[in-house]
Amino acid sequence: MAALLKATKALCLCLGGCRRLSQLAELPDTHQILRQTCRDYADRELAPIASKLDRHHSYPARQIKALGALGVMAVEAPEELGGAGMDYLAYSLVMEEISRGCASTGAVVSVNNSLYIGPILKFGSDEQKREWIAPFTAGDRVGCFALSEPGNGSDAGAASTTAHRDGDQWVLNGTKAWITNSWDASATVVFATTDKSLKHKGISAFLIPMPHPGLSLGKKEDKLGIRATSTANIILENCRIPAGNMLGPRGAGFKIAMQTLDSGRIGIASQALGIAQASLDCAADYAHKRSAFGAPIGRLQAVQFKLADMAVATESARLLTWKASLLRDAKKPFTKEAAMAKLAASEAATFCAHQAIQVLGGMGYVTDMPAERHYRDARITEIYEGTSEIQRLVIAGQVLKEYQP
Ligand code: CAA
Repeated sequence: MAALLKATKALCLCLGGCRRLSQLAELPDTHQILRQTCRDYADRELAPIASKLDRHHSYPARQIKALGALGVMAVEAPEELGGAGMDYLAYSLVMEEISRGCASTGAVVSVNNSLYIGPILKFGSDEQKREWIAPFTAGDRVGCFALSEPGNGSDAGAASTTAHRDGDQWVLNGTKAWITNSWDASATVVFATTDKSLKHKGISAFLIPMPHPGLSLGKKEDKLGIRATSTANIILENCRIPAGNMLGPRGAGFKIAMQTLDSGRIGIASQALGIAQASLDCAADYAHKRSAFGAPIGRLQAVQFKLADMAVATESARLLTWKASLLRDAKKPFTKEAAMAKLAASEAATFCAHQAIQVLGGMGYVTDMPAERHYRDARITEIYEGTSEIQRLVIAGQVLKEYQP
């Protein structure tokens, strides 16, 4: 169980891995081993089947189970709960490499790690951690996160799903939208208001098992990308849960959601990096193999400039992502850096996937090659867990605070 991550963690303790931001350019040996192992797994087990999963909208159940055995489904959770007990830089590396092979699989890994387990780890009681985290580390069960609603996505504080107390139970009513993993999930963190007049201060977080009476799922959305994941509404109709299923204090839900998303955005930045890197890999490989005008197209400056721009976009986004991870690991503020990482990496993914198709020409436009899938998968990274516009709002808010006269 969790063999890979436990081994690399032990090695990390022996080597006392380098943790200083100035050493970003070189990963500690332990993290390099972890990265290489995930890369090998993705090359061997994910990349070859990613197109098939995408085409058939198939949830990668076997792969998620195998990733659970590696410890990848609960990277940060402590070993006593069945997790790998590693840091966020490790999680970021895992997310990039898994998503490089299959961005859909990366999405499932990210939601379980950062949106489902993350808030329970940070805000749950010991009993809640045992009940709601431990069974979600092995890859046979995954969780989801229900914040958005049909009427409010970016304006998360305007939640209209209600929770009212009835004896020793909470009764929830409302509809949550765009829930990744929904059809495959065994539990969800749900945000609902106990007092609308308090606006965001009336929102609380709740834990609901799935399936559960009063909870139903909408149709599976037919999406542009990450098509091997399920996305649907979660509909709550007089859904009763025990009073003890509230996560964190009453009224703390909005802050729980915001802090969860700060961390989640590092995961999505890492997923986007995986897509950007896969696009560059595909374009550079093709530039060697495809000849035109009497030579491999990699000799043409028009192609070289594209490869150079893709490499710069990917590497600079990677450094931002690692910086955000290291700040979080050092328990320093990282809201701005996480938003910067997500913004830069998601735009790098879209840019690189676009350029890769341009390098491949017609071959980039058909499903024989993975470039068209990367192009489709990249777009969601600019939308979920806060659009690029929301990231700019968050960054600008922090910058203005820093420059307050
Ligand atoms: N950490 C801690 N607290 C925070 C915070 C953070 N990152 N951001 C804001 N807060 C606090 C503020 O300090 C403030 O506290 P007080 O009330 O005590 O003063 C409170 O929250 C309200 O802050 P704002 O006035 O800044 O809040 P806002 O209503 O203007 O919203 C926002 C800010 C950044 C736009 C926020 O609503 C947001 O991030 N929206 C995007 C939501 C999002 O990412 N949704 C994606 C859902 S998940 C998903 O994609 C589905 C999936 O399955 C993957």
